[in-house]
Amino acid sequence: MDTLRFVTCGSANNGKSALITSLQSTCPALANAPALPEPATRFEVSLRHFTTQQRSFVVADTPGDAQHTRNMASGATSASLALVVVDACEGLQSQGRLHSRILAMMGITHVVLAVNKMDLAGFDEAAFGAIVAEYGRFSSALGFASVQAIPTAALGGDNVVRMSPHMPWYSGPTLLQYLSTVDTQGPPPETDEVLRELQAPAEMADQFEAQLLWVHAHALAPGRQYLLQMAGQEVGVSITDIKYREDVNRGAHLAAKVLEQNEMAVVSLSTNAPLPFAPKASDTALRRFALVDTLTQETVGMGSLQLVLRSASNVYWQRLELNKTARANLKLQTPRCIWFTGLSGSGKSTLANLLEKRLYAEGRHTYLLDGDNVRQGLNRNLGFSEADRVENIRRVAEVARLMVDAGLVVLVSFISPFAAERAMARSLFARGEFVEVFVDSPLAMCERRDTKGLYAKARKGELKDFTGIDSPYEAPTHPDVHLRTAEFWPDECVEQLLLSLEPALCC
Ligand code: ADX
Repeated sequence: MDTLRFVTCGSANNGKSALITSLQSTCPALANAPALPEPATRFEVSLRHFTTQQRSFVVADTPGDAQHTRNMASGATSASLALVVVDACEGLQSQGRLHSRILAMMGITHVVLAVNKMDLAGFDEAAFGAIVAEYGRFSSALGFASVQAIPTAALGGDNVVRMSPHMPWYSGPTLLQYLSTVDTQGPPPETDEVLRELQAPAEMADQFEAQLLWVHAHALAPGRQYLLQMAGQEVGVSITDIKYREDVNRGAHLAAKVLEQNEMAVVSLSTNAPLPFAPKASDTALRRFALVDTLTQETVGMGSLQLVLRSASNVYWQRLELNKTARANLKLQTPRCIWFTGLSGSGKSTLANLLEKRLYAEGRHTYLLDGDNVRQGLNRNLGFSEADRVENIRRVAEVARLMVDAGLVVLVSFISPFAAERAMARSLFARGEFVEVFVDSPLAMCERRDTKGLYAKARKGELKDFTGIDSPYEAPTHPDVHLRTAEFWPDECVEQLLLSLEPALCC
């Protein structure tokens, strides 16, 4: 006996669970039915079972409210059909539209549109017809292979298991008949062309266009490193561009700098290692992925790869004959990235300046990248939103990497408030090459000093997103060097720093 897995969709309170209860009460799961391996879902999904003579059913019965959109998306990952339930009196709502878009993204192309609570709509054929027509218009761009509309009333069981005496105008199958016989596999491929496409080997690529549903309460910041999990593989990834956000209701393409919870978008993403990309005609499941936060391991997004933007085999790392070691040997030093992080006014620039002078006096080849200065050139198009700070750090980390490759001792003095970006910066360097220096000064002290007058402005509300005031600073938990600038003079701090660095800086 085969098994049909399906997911319920649609707004809350439209009778989804009542429909399933009605099916279950007529066709309880067989007591001796073989235990099915339950699919692992990322977010809690209640699975319900029932059985007919033809097949057994596993239903991911997911709540319809907005906070649980991610549960619905999670339930959809193991389904081959969706039961989209619409309240006959209320018509198609945003949640029904969002859920349908998620289905399309997940590659679920078989839909049953149950127009439920027909009893409350007077079993009116016109009310049913209007909703079916509206869903047809809305879903025409989503590429569904089949949409079967059924007018139901879960409470009375109308057209759920038995034909309704109240809707003689409906001559289609009942919900149960349809679910028992629907073919979600589709016919085998016929043309040689489709067969060839199916058999084509997967392409290896590291830049993709993808559709993405952001599920975390904390907005997506392009440029931040996440983990991409797909078909048993895990690679580092960053969203390099939000091409557009999709308007859930009308499908319009909207400009977006960040993605908030439950927003969908088409994005460009770049992986740290090549991934196989299944040819277009094959199983979408192979292209579905989840994005996971590198630090908390929480799932933050779900999506599917759409197309390859750059095949990994077309871009090579150009091997250069002179390498970092050769360049550094000429300078008689070991390259380093010394990364100062701390609140504005904590003393980062003062210490970085003093350290650079000391290193210079010792004959070291150095360069100091300071946030205030880099923001006047390379990063002049960036502000202080979370997304812009992520990009600010990504760029300066890449610049620092090039400078270390040139054989320099690079000092980076940026607030760099987020642990994720500092971890990303560290990951660009060889082991031991990146030294995180936490310039630790209490906020009250930075505010008292306020050399630039920015804290005063921020307190008056004249400066938004100010670190420590209305923008967070995630203090390092395990810095390589911890300098307490409230307790020691700058010269003492630099001595402590030199002690931790030497003799590592000499060849
Ligand atoms: S970071 O957070 O993106 O790393 P960065 O170090 O480049 O910040 O820039 C911080 C400097 O910008 C501060 O020293 C301060 O002079 C100035 N600044 C202006 N606006 C802000 C703000 N909203 N938050 C923090 N610093 C700001």
